[in-house]
Amino acid sequence: MDHFTYKDGVLHAEDVTIQAIADCVGTPFYVYSSATLLRHFNLFNDALSGMDHLVCFAMKSLSNQAVIQLLGDAGAGMDVVSEGEYRRARAAGVPGDRIVFSGVGKTRHEMRVALEGGIRQFNVESEPEMDALSEVAAGLGLRAPITIRVNPDVDAKTHAKIATGKSENKFGIPIDRARAVYAHAATLSGVDVIGIDVHIGSQLTDLEPFRAAYAKVADLTVQLRADGHDIRRLDLGGGLGIPYSLGNANPPLPSDYGQLIRDTVGHLGCEIEIEPGRLISGNAGLLVSEVIYVKQGADRQFLIIDAGMNDLIRPAMYDAHHDIVPVIEQPTGADRATYDVVGPICESGDTFAKGRQMAQVGPGDLVAFRSAGAYGAVMSSEYNSRPMIPEVLVQRDQFAVIRPRPTFDEMIARDTVPAWL
Ligand code: LLP
Repeated sequence: MDHFTYKDGVLHAEDVTIQAIADCVGTPFYVYSSATLLRHFNLFNDALSGMDHLVCFAMKSLSNQAVIQLLGDAGAGMDVVSEGEYRRARAAGVPGDRIVFSGVGKTRHEMRVALEGGIRQFNVESEPEMDALSEVAAGLGLRAPITIRVNPDVDAKTHAKIATGKSENKFGIPIDRARAVYAHAATLSGVDVIGIDVHIGSQLTDLEPFRAAYAKVADLTVQLRADGHDIRRLDLGGGLGIPYSLGNANPPLPSDYGQLIRDTVGHLGCEIEIEPGRLISGNAGLLVSEVIYVKQGADRQFLIIDAGMNDLIRPAMYDAHHDIVPVIEQPTGADRATYDVVGPICESGDTFAKGRQMAQVGPGDLVAFRSAGAYGAVMSSEYNSRPMIPEVLVQRDQFAVIRPRPTFDEMIARDTVPAWL
């Protein structure tokens, strides 16, 4: 459930009309609903209630400072994957002991920044990384708390580009080698092994792959404890999927997922961490765009809008579906049309939808892409020298620009021309 609804035939974000925001910031823009973000975060918190747990928001899905502060103030931890995300979390007031550091390629510099600034744990993904972390921490007179990410070789049944738990993926250490790697970790002076980490992929719409992976983690916990390791924390990753199409597919709810966690690892007495991104932010955001032209092609109509693949790359990159709805609701029974919905960018990949049956719209009309809060703004670029689009946060009847649109001059002035030219 989200808070983007039609009231009297006009699309609102909570109590603010989309048109009012467009009048203020121009199009295209992203808009997020605070109530939806908080609702989704709380669903996870409730799903794990009664267990010692921390819900760490995967900042990679949406990393605006205002959103991080909103969730951080509500008690969320953060899952970060770079120095930039770490610094963003700290700048938004999230304490280091609520930040977990994931990723296969953490540099020594990034490790130092996080160790000096305060960190809950590193999720280590390889032996060379573990050795480097131990050296860096020991050099600072510290022991870095770590979990080791295991790759359970489970098929997450999701898009190949976002599956991470199969043996051919670059993530984690093969679970068969885990005991040897934990034994090695125990010999290092700069790390303190506290748990196990796993993350098998994103946009999972079936709970069974989670069940298979977490069952393997449970077995491994027992084995590692027998080997003498004090396994007291399990980071179970993110990945729970969302409905991208209304009225279609009903992915499992956070409460179902919480029950699965209880069933698979609840008996171990470990502290539980999860790292959801998309389920918290995805349906909490819209991308709003204006129709520029409707163009008649040889055998189809192109709906040309002012957002491009640089603003929302998911359809071009993953063939992702986003529902596209008019900002002025169509009366029931009104004519519908079939469009290829495209942006202004100079490549054919700049296509948001092919043969999409949707409300009939025309030049000047606003349309909204639903489920665009996750992996939307964060993956955008200035390709074709299109300035990054604004982000807006709504709370009830208020809205605020949380990232302004840069001017063309600001965009151009970031480049510098060598003196010899
Ligand atoms: N934890 C780790 C270690 C991850 O790699 C990810 C996502 C998450 C948590 C959060 O997963 P979520 O709950 O959001 O599914 N750009 C792609 C998605 C990439 C996901 C990368 N890792 C997309 O637009 O679909």
